Amino acid sequence: PKRIFSGIQPTGSIHLGNYLGAIAQWVKLQEQNEDVILSIVDLHSMTLPHEPKILSRNILEMTATLLGCGIDPDRVVLFQQSAVPAHTELCWCLGCISTMARLAHLPQYKEKSKDMKDIPLGLFVYPILQAADILAYKTTHVPVGEDQVQQIQLAQDLARMFNSRFGDTFPIPHTITTGAEYARLRSLRDPSKKMSKSDPDPKSRICLTDNFDDVVRNIKKAVTDFTSEVTYDPEGRPGVSNLIGIHSFVTKKPVEDICKEAEGINTGQYKLVVAEAVVSYLRPIQDRISYYLKDERYLLDVLRRGGEKAGEISERNMEEVRCRLGLRFTA
Ligand code: TYM
Repeated sequence: PKRIFSGIQPTGSIHLGNYLGAIAQWVKLQEQNEDVILSIVDLHSMTLPHEPKILSRNILEMTATLLGCGIDPDRVVLFQQSAVPAHTELCWCLGCISTMARLAHLPQYKEKSKDMKDIPLGLFVYPILQAADILAYKTTHVPVGEDQVQQIQLAQDLARMFNSRFGDTFPIPHTITTGAEYARLRSLRDPSKKMSKSDPDPKSRICLTDNFDDVVRNIKKAVTDFTSEVTYDPEGRPGVSNLIGIHSFVTKKPVEDICKEAEGINTGQYKLVVAEAVVSYLRPIQDRISYYLKDERYLLDVLRRGGEKAGEISERNMEEVRCRLGLRFTA
């Protein structure tokens, strides 16, 4: 049987990259699958220095955001990572079969630590906690954006290592990414980089809760190239193609139709068309997010119910892990 698991960090408001690369995928998957588990990975958000009050607020906002985007808490298990002890326990167990050399090679660690003098241990261990998130539920499929693929390879390696040393326990989790246009949405300021919440320039991204003037301004200022026609060529023309990808997503029109309709207008005029389409797409989502944010008790109740279910599933698996590791007496 298929079990789908994914996670998202509760760090402020999410951008279109998170939305197109991950959340929109989850909304689709919940329609077609019985067994979908989604975690707001608050422990991962502590790997860089954080402010407790802001983290609490962000957890609630992320819950409201996911509901506003169409995640249905009656169909999926939606929960807060720190509410379920299996994650940290399994992280320890997997840490004992990982090596420092393997972790030091992972791109996210290299990227985030490159300008740091004192690197927090949590940042280094981050991918093991991520592997634990996945394996604690005996996950078979992990829907994520392309930037996560290497971290999921670590989870696959650790599952194989654990199975071969201690007996068959974990399925090897597969990665699922969306179509090429969305799996790696690019920065609006520099199309060679991914759209990222850690980019210091807010004009590089569009957040779901941005006010519409900012959305229009950021799309108008998006970096493209010196060709004025609107053509789709992700390799040769990453900037315009990124906009076409976004446009295609929000209008549900194929890329070819979009380019045909844009014949005769230049990229500057085209940006206005995209901006308008994005704004009309975001409007109802923003309304739903603010609606949910007004009901904190409901949000907490959703998380509590999800946490109970996630706790039961993972605890069963953890008991098996403890037995495998020789931590339990079964006589
Ligand atoms: P996070 O919170 O950075 O991002 C959440 C999801 O958004 C996707 N994403 C993108 N997709 C396309 N284009 C982009 N520019 C873009 N930026 C972000 C990410 O790929 C991700 O799917 N380490 C994870 C959270 C995590 C997790 C897990 C995921 C923790 N445990 C277990 C899966 C399974 C992260 O930081 O995602």
